[in-house]
Amino acid sequence: MGDPGLTLPPTIGWRDALLTVRGGITAISSNASLGREQLGVAPGVVVPGCQTRGGASGPGGRIRVGPGLVHPGGRHSRAMDIPTTPLPDGTPIPVLGAGTWGYAEDPGRRRDEIASLHAALDEGLTLVDTAEMYADGGAQELVGEALDGRRDEAFVVDKVLPSDASRRGTVEACERALRRLRTDRIDLYLLHWRGRYPLSETVEAFTELVDTGRIRRWGVSNLDVDEMQQLAGTAVATDQILYNLTRRGPEFDLLPWAAEQGLPVMAYSPIEQGRLLGDPTLREIADRHGATPAQVAIAWVLRRPGTIAIPKASTPARMAENRGALDVTLTDDDLATLDAAFPPPDRKRRLEIL
Ligand SMILES: NC(=O)c1ccc[n+]([C@@H]2O[C@H](COP(=O)([O-])OP(=O)(O)OC[C@H]3O[C@@H](n4cnc5c(N)ncnc54)[C@H](OP(=O)(O)O)[C@@H]3O)[C@@H](O)[C@H]2O)c1
Repeated sequence: MGDPGLTLPPTIGWRDALLTVRGGITAISSNASLGREQLGVAPGVVVPGCQTRGGASGPGGRIRVGPGLVHPGGRHSRAMDIPTTPLPDGTPIPVLGAGTWGYAEDPGRRRDEIASLHAALDEGLTLVDTAEMYADGGAQELVGEALDGRRDEAFVVDKVLPSDASRRGTVEACERALRRLRTDRIDLYLLHWRGRYPLSETVEAFTELVDTGRIRRWGVSNLDVDEMQQLAGTAVATDQILYNLTRRGPEFDLLPWAAEQGLPVMAYSPIEQGRLLGDPTLREIADRHGATPAQVAIAWVLRRPGTIAIPKASTPARMAENRGALDVTLTDDDLATLDAAFPPPDRKRRLEIL
Protein backbone atom coordinates (compact mmCIF):
# COMPACT_ATOMS: atom_id res chain seq x y z
CA MET A 1 0.00 0.00 0.00
CA GLY A 2 2.52 2.60 1.18
CA ASP A 3 0.11 5.53 1.17
CA PRO A 4 -0.05 8.05 4.02
CA GLY A 5 -3.38 6.92 5.44
CA LEU A 6 -6.92 8.12 5.52
CA THR A 7 -9.19 9.88 7.97
CA LEU A 8 -12.51 8.05 7.95
CA PRO A 9 -15.69 10.08 7.62
CA PRO A 10 -18.28 9.71 10.42
CA THR A 11 -20.38 7.26 8.46
CA ILE A 12 -19.92 5.49 5.19
CA GLY A 13 -22.68 4.31 2.87
CA TRP A 14 -22.16 0.71 1.86
CA ARG A 15 -22.23 1.26 -1.88
CA ASP A 16 -19.69 3.97 -1.46
CA ALA A 17 -17.37 2.27 0.92
CA LEU A 18 -16.71 -1.31 0.24
CA LEU A 19 -14.14 -2.32 2.77
CA THR A 20 -11.63 -4.63 1.27
CA VAL A 21 -9.28 -6.48 3.51
CA ARG A 22 -5.89 -7.49 2.29
CA GLY A 23 -3.00 -9.45 3.70
CA GLY A 24 -4.84 -11.26 6.48
CA ILE A 25 -5.94 -8.04 8.13
CA THR A 26 -9.30 -8.00 9.78
CA ALA A 27 -12.00 -5.42 9.41
CA ILE A 28 -15.72 -5.34 8.88
CA SER A 29 -17.60 -5.16 5.64
CA SER A 30 -21.31 -4.62 5.71
CA ASN A 31 -24.17 -3.50 3.59
CA ALA A 32 -25.31 -1.20 6.33
CA SER A 33 -24.03 2.25 6.97
CA LEU A 34 -20.84 1.91 8.95
CA GLY A 35 -19.50 4.19 11.63
CA ARG A 36 -15.93 4.52 12.77
CA GLU A 37 -16.73 2.72 15.99
CA GLN A 38 -17.84 -0.34 14.04
CA LEU A 39 -14.48 -0.32 12.33
CA GLY A 40 -12.70 -0.13 15.66
CA VAL A 41 -11.36 3.29 14.76
CA ALA A 42 -11.73 6.34 16.99
CA PRO A 43 -13.18 9.48 15.38
CA GLY A 44 -10.54 11.51 13.61
CA VAL A 45 -7.95 8.77 13.70
CA VAL A 46 -5.93 8.35 10.57
CA VAL A 47 -5.90 4.71 9.58
CA PRO A 48 -2.45 3.76 8.41
CA GLY A 49 -2.30 1.93 5.14
CA CYS A 50 -5.75 3.02 4.00
CA GLN A 51 -6.30 4.41 0.60
CA THR A 52 -9.32 5.59 -1.28
CA ARG A 53 -10.36 4.72 -4.76
CA GLY A 54 -12.66 6.86 -6.80
CA GLY A 55 -11.13 10.06 -5.52
CA ALA A 56 -12.90 10.59 -2.22
CA SER A 57 -12.77 9.28 1.31
CA GLY A 58 -16.45 9.68 2.03
CA PRO A 59 -19.49 8.82 -0.05
CA GLY A 60 -18.40 8.32 -3.63
CA GLY A 61 -15.06 6.81 -2.72
CA ARG A 62 -13.90 3.37 -1.80
CA ILE A 63 -11.78 2.58 1.15
CA ARG A 64 -9.22 -0.15 1.31
CA VAL A 65 -7.99 -1.18 4.69
CA GLY A 66 -4.42 -2.32 4.63
CA PRO A 67 -1.86 -3.40 7.20
CA GLY A 68 -2.27 -1.41 10.36
CA LEU A 69 -5.94 -1.88 11.19
CA VAL A 70 -7.01 -4.86 13.19
CA HIS A 71 -10.57 -4.98 14.40
CA PRO A 72 -10.59 -6.36 17.94
CA GLY A 73 -12.36 -9.68 18.15
CA GLY A 74 -12.67 -9.93 14.40
CA ARG A 75 -11.70 -12.87 12.23
CA HIS A 76 -10.44 -12.49 8.74
CA SER A 77 -12.53 -14.03 6.03
CA ARG A 78 -12.80 -13.16 2.36
CA ALA A 79 -16.54 -13.58 2.76
CA MET A 80 -16.49 -10.57 5.04
CA ASP A 81 -15.40 -8.47 2.07
CA ILE A 82 -18.55 -9.08 0.10
CA PRO A 83 -21.46 -6.70 0.63
CA THR A 84 -24.65 -8.42 1.66
CA THR A 85 -28.33 -7.69 1.37
CA PRO A 86 -30.93 -8.89 3.86
CA LEU A 87 -33.53 -11.50 3.03
CA PRO A 88 -37.01 -10.73 4.38
CA ASP A 89 -36.20 -12.84 7.47
CA GLY A 90 -33.18 -10.62 8.13
CA THR A 91 -30.53 -13.13 7.03
CA PRO A 92 -27.78 -11.32 5.11
CA ILE A 93 -26.75 -12.92 1.84
CA PRO A 94 -23.88 -11.90 -0.45
CA VAL A 95 -24.93 -9.67 -3.36
CA LEU A 96 -22.66 -11.62 -5.69
CA GLY A 97 -22.76 -15.37 -6.13
CA ALA A 98 -21.96 -18.13 -8.58
CA GLY A 99 -24.31 -19.72 -11.12
CA THR A 100 -23.95 -23.31 -12.32
CA TRP A 101 -26.10 -23.65 -15.44
CA GLY A 102 -23.96 -25.53 -17.97
CA TYR A 103 -21.85 -27.24 -15.31
CA ALA A 104 -21.52 -31.05 -15.35
CA GLU A 105 -22.33 -31.37 -19.02
CA ASP A 106 -18.81 -32.10 -20.17
CA PRO A 107 -16.73 -34.51 -18.04
CA GLY A 108 -13.59 -32.90 -19.44
CA ARG A 109 -14.49 -29.63 -17.73
CA ARG A 110 -15.45 -31.09 -14.37
CA ARG A 111 -12.17 -30.36 -12.66
CA ASP A 112 -12.22 -26.73 -13.75
CA GLU A 113 -15.84 -26.35 -12.67
CA ILE A 114 -15.15 -27.72 -9.21
CA ALA A 115 -12.04 -25.53 -8.97
CA SER A 116 -14.20 -22.57 -10.01
CA LEU A 117 -16.63 -23.20 -7.17
CA HIS A 118 -13.71 -23.51 -4.74
CA ALA A 119 -12.41 -20.20 -6.09
CA ALA A 120 -15.87 -18.70 -5.62
CA LEU A 121 -15.86 -19.71 -1.94
CA ASP A 122 -12.30 -18.44 -1.53
CA GLU A 123 -13.31 -15.14 -3.11
CA GLY A 124 -16.31 -14.81 -0.81
CA LEU A 125 -18.88 -15.61 -3.52
CA THR A 126 -20.51 -18.03 -1.17
CA LEU A 127 -23.98 -17.96 -2.72
CA VAL A 128 -24.08 -20.93 -5.09
CA ASP A 129 -27.07 -21.18 -7.42
CA THR A 130 -28.07 -24.49 -8.94
CA ALA A 131 -31.19 -26.39 -10.07
CA GLU A 132 -32.39 -29.91 -10.70
CA MET A 133 -32.78 -28.91 -14.34
CA TYR A 134 -29.06 -28.28 -14.85
CA ALA A 135 -27.48 -31.37 -16.42
CA ASP A 136 -30.48 -33.29 -15.15
CA GLY A 137 -29.31 -33.25 -11.54
CA GLY A 138 -25.65 -33.40 -12.57
CA ALA A 139 -24.98 -29.81 -11.54
CA GLN A 140 -26.42 -30.51 -8.07
CA GLU A 141 -24.05 -33.48 -7.78
CA LEU A 142 -21.12 -31.37 -8.88
CA VAL A 143 -22.02 -28.69 -6.34
CA GLY A 144 -22.29 -31.42 -3.68
CA GLU A 145 -18.81 -32.65 -4.56
CA ALA A 146 -17.36 -29.13 -4.57
CA LEU A 147 -18.92 -28.28 -1.21
CA ASP A 148 -17.87 -31.52 0.45
CA GLY A 149 -16.16 -30.42 3.65
CA ARG A 150 -17.03 -26.76 2.95
CA ARG A 151 -20.82 -26.87 3.16
CA ASP A 152 -21.01 -24.41 6.03
CA GLU A 153 -19.23 -21.75 3.98
CA ALA A 154 -21.92 -21.73 1.32
CA PHE A 155 -25.44 -20.43 0.91
CA VAL A 156 -27.03 -22.96 -1.45
CA VAL A 157 -29.86 -21.91 -3.75
CA ASP A 158 -31.63 -24.73 -5.58
CA LYS A 159 -34.73 -24.94 -7.77
CA VAL A 160 -37.53 -27.40 -8.29
CA LEU A 161 -38.78 -27.93 -11.84
CA PRO A 162 -42.39 -26.83 -12.45
CA SER A 163 -43.22 -30.36 -13.64
CA ASP A 164 -42.23 -31.62 -10.17
CA ALA A 165 -43.84 -28.79 -8.23
CA SER A 166 -46.93 -30.60 -6.96
CA ARG A 167 -47.52 -30.97 -3.22
CA ARG A 168 -45.78 -34.35 -3.13
CA GLY A 169 -43.44 -33.88 -6.11
CA THR A 170 -41.81 -30.83 -4.55
CA VAL A 171 -40.95 -32.75 -1.39
CA GLU A 172 -39.56 -35.66 -3.40
CA ALA A 173 -37.53 -33.35 -5.64
CA CYS A 174 -36.09 -31.71 -2.54
CA GLU A 175 -35.10 -35.07 -1.09
CA ARG A 176 -33.32 -35.97 -4.33
CA ALA A 177 -31.61 -32.60 -4.30
CA LEU A 178 -30.39 -33.06 -0.73
CA ARG A 179 -28.85 -36.41 -1.64
CA ARG A 180 -27.12 -35.00 -4.72
CA LEU A 181 -25.97 -31.92 -2.86
CA ARG A 182 -24.68 -34.12 0.01
CA THR A 183 -26.32 -31.88 2.56
CA ASP A 184 -29.11 -31.90 5.10
CA ARG A 185 -30.58 -28.53 4.12
CA ILE A 186 -30.99 -26.12 1.22
CA ASP A 187 -30.68 -22.48 2.20
CA LEU A 188 -33.13 -21.20 -0.39
CA TYR A 189 -35.38 -23.40 -2.54
CA LEU A 190 -37.07 -21.83 -5.54
CA LEU A 191 -39.85 -22.74 -7.94
CA HIS A 192 -37.91 -22.54 -11.23
CA TRP A 193 -40.81 -21.10 -13.19
CA ARG A 194 -44.59 -21.27 -13.09
CA GLY A 195 -46.06 -24.55 -14.38
CA ARG A 196 -49.36 -26.36 -14.24
CA TYR A 197 -49.56 -26.74 -10.47
CA PRO A 198 -51.25 -23.95 -8.48
CA LEU A 199 -48.72 -21.78 -6.68
CA SER A 200 -50.55 -22.45 -3.42
CA GLU A 201 -49.81 -26.19 -3.76
CA THR A 202 -46.09 -25.62 -4.22
CA VAL A 203 -46.07 -23.14 -1.35
CA GLU A 204 -47.70 -25.72 0.92
CA ALA A 205 -44.93 -28.17 0.05
CA PHE A 206 -42.27 -25.50 0.64
CA THR A 207 -43.83 -24.77 4.02
CA GLU A 208 -43.63 -28.43 4.99
CA LEU A 209 -39.98 -28.50 3.89
CA VAL A 210 -39.23 -25.45 6.04
CA ASP A 211 -41.06 -26.96 9.01
CA THR A 212 -39.05 -30.16 8.75
CA GLY A 213 -35.74 -28.30 8.36
CA ARG A 214 -34.96 -29.60 4.88
CA ILE A 215 -35.00 -26.09 3.44
CA ARG A 216 -34.32 -22.88 5.33
CA ARG A 217 -36.59 -20.71 3.19
CA TRP A 218 -38.26 -20.62 -0.21
CA GLY A 219 -38.74 -18.31 -3.15
CA VAL A 220 -39.65 -18.25 -6.82
CA SER A 221 -38.12 -17.56 -10.18
CA ASN A 222 -39.35 -16.01 -13.42
CA LEU A 223 -42.54 -14.64 -11.87
CA ASP A 224 -43.76 -11.26 -13.07
CA VAL A 225 -45.25 -8.64 -10.81
CA ASP A 226 -48.87 -9.81 -11.12
CA GLU A 227 -47.90 -13.32 -10.00
CA MET A 228 -45.68 -11.95 -7.24
CA GLN A 229 -48.63 -9.96 -5.94
CA GLN A 230 -50.43 -13.27 -5.37
CA LEU A 231 -47.60 -14.16 -3.00
CA ALA A 232 -47.74 -10.94 -0.99
CA GLY A 233 -48.01 -11.76 2.69
CA THR A 234 -46.37 -15.18 2.31
CA ALA A 235 -42.82 -16.06 3.34
CA VAL A 236 -41.50 -15.72 -0.24
CA ALA A 237 -37.81 -14.74 0.06
CA THR A 238 -36.85 -13.72 -3.49
CA ASP A 239 -37.74 -13.72 -7.16
CA GLN A 240 -34.88 -14.87 -9.38
CA ILE A 241 -35.26 -13.13 -12.74
CA LEU A 242 -33.55 -12.34 -16.01
CA TYR A 243 -32.11 -8.86 -15.49
CA ASN A 244 -29.18 -7.25 -17.24
CA LEU A 245 -28.42 -4.25 -19.46
CA THR A 246 -30.29 -5.75 -22.40
CA ARG A 247 -33.24 -6.95 -20.27
CA ARG A 248 -34.34 -3.89 -18.33
CA GLY A 249 -38.09 -4.53 -18.39
CA PRO A 250 -38.30 -5.34 -14.63
CA GLU A 251 -37.24 -1.75 -13.85
CA PHE A 252 -40.69 -0.58 -14.91
CA ASP A 253 -42.69 -2.35 -12.22
CA LEU A 254 -41.24 -5.56 -10.79
CA LEU A 255 -38.11 -4.07 -9.23
CA PRO A 256 -39.91 -1.08 -7.65
CA TRP A 257 -42.58 -3.45 -6.30
CA ALA A 258 -39.97 -5.81 -4.84
CA ALA A 259 -38.13 -2.86 -3.26
CA GLU A 260 -41.37 -1.71 -1.63
CA GLN A 261 -41.88 -5.19 -0.21
CA GLY A 262 -38.28 -5.39 1.03
CA LEU A 263 -37.81 -8.39 -1.25
CA PRO A 264 -34.35 -8.89 -2.76
CA VAL A 265 -34.22 -9.84 -6.41
CA MET A 266 -31.68 -12.28 -7.81
CA ALA A 267 -30.51 -11.30 -11.30
CA TYR A 268 -29.61 -14.24 -13.50
CA SER A 269 -27.59 -14.05 -16.72
CA PRO A 270 -26.11 -10.69 -15.63
CA ILE A 271 -23.75 -10.71 -18.63
CA GLU A 272 -26.43 -12.06 -20.97
CA GLN A 273 -24.68 -15.44 -21.19
CA GLY A 274 -21.57 -13.73 -22.51
CA ARG A 275 -23.34 -11.81 -25.30
CA LEU A 276 -22.67 -8.47 -23.57
CA LEU A 277 -18.91 -8.96 -23.52
CA GLY A 278 -18.24 -7.57 -26.99
CA ASP A 279 -20.39 -4.48 -26.60
CA PRO A 280 -18.38 -1.34 -27.49
CA THR A 281 -20.04 0.88 -24.84
CA LEU A 282 -19.25 -1.62 -22.12
CA ARG A 283 -15.71 -1.92 -23.43
CA GLU A 284 -15.25 1.87 -23.36
CA ILE A 285 -16.52 2.17 -19.78
CA ALA A 286 -14.47 -0.83 -18.73
CA ASP A 287 -11.34 0.79 -20.18
CA ARG A 288 -12.05 3.99 -18.24
CA HIS A 289 -12.11 1.98 -15.00
CA GLY A 290 -9.26 -0.37 -15.82
CA ALA A 291 -11.90 -3.08 -15.61
CA THR A 292 -13.37 -5.68 -17.96
CA PRO A 293 -16.76 -5.64 -19.74
CA ALA A 294 -17.95 -8.55 -17.57
CA GLN A 295 -17.12 -6.57 -14.44
CA VAL A 296 -18.97 -3.49 -15.73
CA ALA A 297 -22.05 -5.55 -16.67
CA ILE A 298 -22.13 -7.10 -13.19
CA ALA A 299 -21.41 -3.80 -11.42
CA TRP A 300 -24.32 -2.26 -13.34
CA VAL A 301 -26.72 -4.94 -12.02
CA LEU A 302 -25.37 -4.47 -8.51
CA ARG A 303 -25.86 -0.68 -8.58
CA ARG A 304 -29.41 -1.27 -7.33
CA PRO A 305 -29.70 -1.99 -3.61
CA GLY A 306 -31.41 -5.29 -2.95
CA THR A 307 -30.18 -6.84 -6.19
CA ILE A 308 -28.04 -9.97 -6.19
CA ALA A 309 -26.10 -11.12 -9.27
CA ILE A 310 -25.24 -14.76 -9.96
CA PRO A 311 -22.91 -14.87 -12.96
CA LYS A 312 -21.66 -18.27 -14.02
CA ALA A 313 -17.98 -18.79 -14.81
CA SER A 314 -16.11 -22.01 -15.48
CA THR A 315 -12.57 -21.09 -14.52
CA PRO A 316 -11.13 -19.81 -11.23
CA ALA A 317 -9.62 -16.84 -13.10
CA ARG A 318 -13.02 -15.76 -14.42
CA MET A 319 -14.57 -16.26 -11.01
CA ALA A 320 -11.93 -13.91 -9.53
CA GLU A 321 -12.48 -11.47 -12.38
CA ASN A 322 -16.20 -11.40 -11.70
CA ARG A 323 -15.61 -10.84 -8.03
CA GLY A 324 -13.65 -7.74 -9.10
CA ALA A 325 -16.96 -6.23 -10.23
CA LEU A 326 -17.37 -5.22 -6.60
CA ASP A 327 -14.40 -2.90 -7.01
CA VAL A 328 -16.03 -1.02 -9.90
CA THR A 329 -18.12 2.01 -8.97
CA LEU A 330 -19.98 3.32 -11.98
CA THR A 331 -20.19 7.11 -12.13
CA ASP A 332 -23.29 9.11 -13.07
CA ASP A 333 -21.65 9.69 -16.47
CA ASP A 334 -21.14 5.96 -16.95
CA LEU A 335 -24.76 5.29 -16.02
CA ALA A 336 -26.01 7.96 -18.43
CA THR A 337 -23.88 6.49 -21.22
CA LEU A 338 -25.27 3.03 -20.48
CA ASP A 339 -28.84 4.41 -20.41
CA ALA A 340 -28.29 5.86 -23.89
CA ALA A 341 -26.97 2.55 -25.22
CA PHE A 342 -29.45 0.34 -23.33
CA PRO A 343 -32.54 2.48 -22.70
CA PRO A 344 -34.62 1.83 -19.60
CA PRO A 345 -38.23 0.72 -20.20
CA ASP A 346 -40.88 3.41 -20.75
CA ARG A 347 -43.78 0.96 -20.55
CA LYS A 348 -44.69 -2.44 -19.19
CA ARG A 349 -42.93 -5.38 -20.77
CA ARG A 350 -43.66 -8.97 -19.86
CA LEU A 351 -40.86 -10.51 -17.86
CA GLU A 352 -38.46 -12.24 -20.22
CA ILE A 353 -37.16 -15.74 -19.56
CA LEU A 354 -34.10 -17.60 -20.81
N1 LIG B 1 -33.86 -19.06 -12.77
C1 LIG B 1 -33.65 -19.22 -14.07
O1 LIG B 1 -34.55 -19.47 -14.86
C2 LIG B 1 -32.25 -19.06 -14.58
C3 LIG B 1 -32.02 -18.90 -15.96
C4 LIG B 1 -30.72 -18.72 -16.40
C5 LIG B 1 -29.67 -18.71 -15.50
N2 LIG B 1 -29.90 -18.91 -14.16
C6 LIG B 1 -28.80 -18.94 -13.18
O2 LIG B 1 -28.01 -17.78 -13.36
C7 LIG B 1 -26.66 -18.16 -13.65
C8 LIG B 1 -26.00 -17.14 -14.54
O3 LIG B 1 -26.66 -17.02 -15.76
P1 LIG B 1 -26.10 -17.62 -17.13
O4 LIG B 1 -25.18 -18.72 -16.85
O5 LIG B 1 -27.30 -17.90 -17.96
O6 LIG B 1 -25.38 -16.40 -17.82
P2 LIG B 1 -24.24 -15.35 -17.42
O7 LIG B 1 -23.77 -15.55 -16.04
O8 LIG B 1 -24.74 -14.02 -17.83
O9 LIG B 1 -23.08 -15.74 -18.46
C9 LIG B 1 -22.37 -16.93 -18.38
C10 LIG B 1 -21.46 -17.00 -19.61
O10 LIG B 1 -20.52 -15.92 -19.57
C11 LIG B 1 -19.19 -16.44 -19.55
N3 LIG B 1 -18.41 -15.64 -18.59
C12 LIG B 1 -18.64 -15.50 -17.27
N4 LIG B 1 -17.74 -14.67 -16.70
C13 LIG B 1 -16.93 -14.28 -17.72
C14 LIG B 1 -15.80 -13.43 -17.77
N5 LIG B 1 -15.36 -12.81 -16.68
N6 LIG B 1 -15.20 -13.25 -18.96
C15 LIG B 1 -15.65 -13.88 -20.08
N7 LIG B 1 -16.71 -14.70 -20.09
C16 LIG B 1 -17.35 -14.89 -18.91
C17 LIG B 1 -19.31 -17.87 -19.09
O11 LIG B 1 -18.26 -18.60 -19.67
P3 LIG B 1 -17.59 -19.88 -18.97
O12 LIG B 1 -18.68 -20.60 -18.23
O13 LIG B 1 -17.06 -20.64 -20.13
O14 LIG B 1 -16.52 -19.37 -18.05
C18 LIG B 1 -20.65 -18.27 -19.66
O15 LIG B 1 -20.52 -18.64 -21.02
C19 LIG B 1 -26.82 -19.55 -14.26
O16 LIG B 1 -25.61 -20.26 -14.30
C20 LIG B 1 -27.87 -20.13 -13.37
O17 LIG B 1 -27.30 -20.53 -12.13
C21 LIG B 1 -31.18 -19.06 -13.69
